[in-house]
Parts: sequence; C-alpha cells; structure tokens
Amino acid sequence: MPTLALIATGGTIAGSGPLHRYTAGVLDAASLLDAVPELAELAAWQVEQIFAIDSRDMQPAQWLKLASRIRALQADPTIDGIVITHGTDTLEETAFALHLLIAPAKPVVLTAAMRPASARSADGPANLLQAAITALDTDAARHGVTVVANDIIIHSDTLHKAHTHHTDALRCIEGGGLAGRILAGKAQWLTPPSSLQPALQLPEDIALPRIDILNAAAGTPPDLIDFCVAAGARGLILALTGHGSIPADWRPALTRARQAGVHIVRASRIAAGGVWPGCNEDDEASDCIAAGLHSPQQARVRLMLTLAAQPDISRNRLAALFSAR
Ligand code: SIN
Repeated sequence: MPTLALIATGGTIAGSGPLHRYTAGVLDAASLLDAVPELAELAAWQVEQIFAIDSRDMQPAQWLKLASRIRALQADPTIDGIVITHGTDTLEETAFALHLLIAPAKPVVLTAAMRPASARSADGPANLLQAAITALDTDAARHGVTVVANDIIIHSDTLHKAHTHHTDALRCIEGGGLAGRILAGKAQWLTPPSSLQPALQLPEDIALPRIDILNAAAGTPPDLIDFCVAAGARGLILALTGHGSIPADWRPALTRARQAGVHIVRASRIAAGGVWPGCNEDDEASDCIAAGLHSPQQARVRLMLTLAAQPDISRNRLAALFSAR
C-alpha cells in the first residue's frame, strides 16, 4: 500500500461552528482523515499539523517553512506523495509560492473547502479524497504543485479564487487551461504539465524583501508610492485599470521609485486577460514590467521569491519571467 503524507495548515476545511460564524483551522489533521474512511483504503497516512490558522493570516515566511517540510518528505523514500490542506482565501498565493519553490520530485497536491467541516453540506471530505486520488496518480508529479477541489485539478500557477462563497470558488484563470478533473474516482489529465522552471532553492530562514501591491481606483493618490518606497519596499505591484494603464499623476512617483532601484510590475485589477508588453506605451514610459497572466497577488509572490533568490537580477531577466506566462 502506498503512503501519503498529510500536512494540515488550518482553513475552513478544518473549520467548525455555525455556517456563517464558524472558526477556521480548529480541527486537527487526524480528524480530517477520520472523517473520510475511504482514505485509509487508498493509502497509509503520515499526518502532521504544521500550522492551524485561518489562511488570511498566512505569512510569506510560512511558505518557506512549508516548502522546506515538503522537500524533506519528497526525500523520504517511504513517502509516495504529499497532500496539504489549506484555507481558500490565500491558497492561490501559497500554491504559487510552492510552485516556484518545489521541484516536481513527488506529487504535491493542495486542497481546501468553502464550507466548514461541521456543515451538513461540507465540501472538505470529498475534496480531501479527490486530492488523495490525485496524489496517488502516476502522472501527478510531472504536473508540479496542483490544487484539487470540486472535481477539478488546477495547476497552481493558474489558480485563482473567483467567488466569495460558492463551493466552486477555486478556478483556473482564463487562458490557463484546466489541468484535469476527477472522473469515476480517477484523475484524468486534460492539459500537459505547466512548464516548470528549476525550483528556487531558498532556505527557510532567508529574509524576504518587502513587495507592496497598490490598487488603482479613480483618484488614488500617488503619495502611496512614495510611502511604500520610504517604508523599504523593493518592489511594487500595480493593480491597474484595464490593460495595466498607469494614471498620469502616478508617473513622477513611479520614476522616483525606479531611480531608487525599486522594481515595478504593471498588473491589472481585472481578473482575466493579463497585461502584456508592447500593448501600450506604459512599459517604455515608466520602465515597468508587464505582469503577463499573473494576478497582482501572484505577481507579488513571484517578485518576492525571485528577488530573495537573485537580488541583483536584471530588469530584462525579470520581465522575461513575467511575460513567460
Ligand atoms: C481560510 O482561508 O482559512 C478561511 C476561508 C476558507 O478556507 O475558505
């Protein structure tokens, strides 16, 4: 029988209490397993509780701790795959961080739930079972870090949370291509693996640079840019209108930020379509990098981890990383 590791981090999947007033992350990893008897028929389990939090409180340092634990489990010859339970709220950030930090040596599958474990219609048990099925699939490792919920398998670089309360909230960004689905109790792959770049080998205790996200709305004052730079930001992600259009009154502050060596990524507050180089004059005029298909929060993850690994990376090399997807 294969052995899977379950790493629990908290989230609604481990939540308990009334449907709209529950507390996330209160049930332990063993209780999640016990709620789904079929899991014991699929695999032997090694269970650990690395965090017990609502994922709104997840910190970047915890991505590094999780990554280092996953690497250790991948190196353990007795472990065949790793399943991680997590809250949905920041799952797209943790999953993308792991996508950048973990080599595809063994399957790594994250899952979550929109309804607490105590709800009559809890979605966590089925999602956990589907995550285990995926982690046992022979092709799973080639797909890198994946996320499974509500019958679908999503590559973690294309994941986004698209609804505040429906159970199909975890989706694949438009243009990303769904990785696969769970059908008749099996994983069925629908697209080839994402192109996997070599994992960033960041030690658990490395200090991560400050990267801030600024959201553009009508009249948002540009002094926020100066504030972030003065506070020590090494990078700024602009969640701009439309195809990443920079407000005219932001330009002088952005120029000052670039002169101070701050990297600036032009993303969009719109969920689909991405921001691409060469589509308007904003890259050249402001020396910003186009985000490609990265959401503002995923652009922040990429910039934070990349600058931690390569503090002196050139602007052009960074731009290539972003527009590669
Ligand atoms: C959380 O992200 O921890 C709470 C919300 C959820 O899991 O859906």
